[in-house]
Amino acid sequence: MSSKQTETDHSPLETGAKSYDFHAGLSGKHCLVTGAAGFIGSHLSRRLLELGCQVTGIDCFTDYYDRQVKKNNVAPLLEIEGFKLLEMDLADLARNSVNKVDIVFHQAAQAGVRASWGKEFSHYTRHNVLATQRLLEWAKNSKPERFVYASSSSVYGHTGKLPMHEDDLPRPLSPYGVTKLAAEHLCNLYHQNFAVPAVSLRYFTVYGPAQRPDMAFHRFIKAIIKDEQIVIYGSGEQTRDFTYIDDIVAANLAAALAKSASGRVYNIGGGSRISVNGVLGILEKLAEKPFRVKYEPVQAGDPPHTFADTSRAKAEIAFSPAVSLQEGLLKMYESFKML
Ligand code: UGA
Repeated sequence: MSSKQTETDHSPLETGAKSYDFHAGLSGKHCLVTGAAGFIGSHLSRRLLELGCQVTGIDCFTDYYDRQVKKNNVAPLLEIEGFKLLEMDLADLARNSVNKVDIVFHQAAQAGVRASWGKEFSHYTRHNVLATQRLLEWAKNSKPERFVYASSSSVYGHTGKLPMHEDDLPRPLSPYGVTKLAAEHLCNLYHQNFAVPAVSLRYFTVYGPAQRPDMAFHRFIKAIIKDEQIVIYGSGEQTRDFTYIDDIVAANLAAALAKSASGRVYNIGGGSRISVNGVLGILEKLAEKPFRVKYEPVQAGDPPHTFADTSRAKAEIAFSPAVSLQEGLLKMYESFKML
């Protein structure tokens, strides 16, 4: 350890540590989680509360999917001391809307790759671009220690080479990807010009209990349980680097603590790249019963493959995915059977 570093210095870059002590680093912090009623935001909020943080959640409960689903996500959090929920559209965020916070986890977004075409696009510009700009303006004045932005593998589009590296030229294939990339650029601009300590995490197809109802695994598992037909878009040979929710949460915590992460962009992938047909094979074993599958045309905006090069995240924020696809799918499947 160098003379500049202390026991409370949590950067693996500077200490050579292999992992962070999340409790020591985060306990007592006031965290702002945007999109706290969503799939990722609600998991992250729960973990922060477990670590002894005070959490202010913001959510505007858009109607992209049933509001009740989000209410169910957030209901257990409201029982925990230290959690406060503000129902608010970030695009209307004013300077004094939120008290001083230590760390911002900006998870709120208008999600959905395939739904971002046509007249829906205005929701994507409002909730992904304008909302992020408003939050960054607020952060410019409020000066949090760290601002973690939930970016997306959708910024890459068709890179022409795999695995995808943070320095590859992003060429999104969907309007959704365009807005996620625009917001990532805004984070970089506010970091460069106003020292907002923003770090972007490019999530690769996140799954787990309480996954959004429009996403593949949620739809597949629900169809199996209800003996309904599974719909596959395209040949099913498209691949994704599926990432379990707990790994995404851990990446956020690491990005909050890593001393040198401001201004950086990291791929956060699960290390479980597999085709959609391959996923059906695993589900068949879990379900122990046959199910019906129908193939429909490829959806506009759907990338043929995603695959994360996570070496930068490993080197700089000590992130490595810990949950295999088999393990994660089993946990997700079991959680759906309980519903
Ligand atoms: C997901 C999220 O929905 C995005 O919000 C996120 O930004 C993105 O991951 C990302 O990694 O950046 P996607 O990869 O399309 O997007 O995730 P799924 O909805 O789980 O779809 C995975 C694959 O299954 C896609 O090829 C999709 O077309 C296919 N799919 C989906 C089906 O074949 N059938 C379905 O019913 C649903």
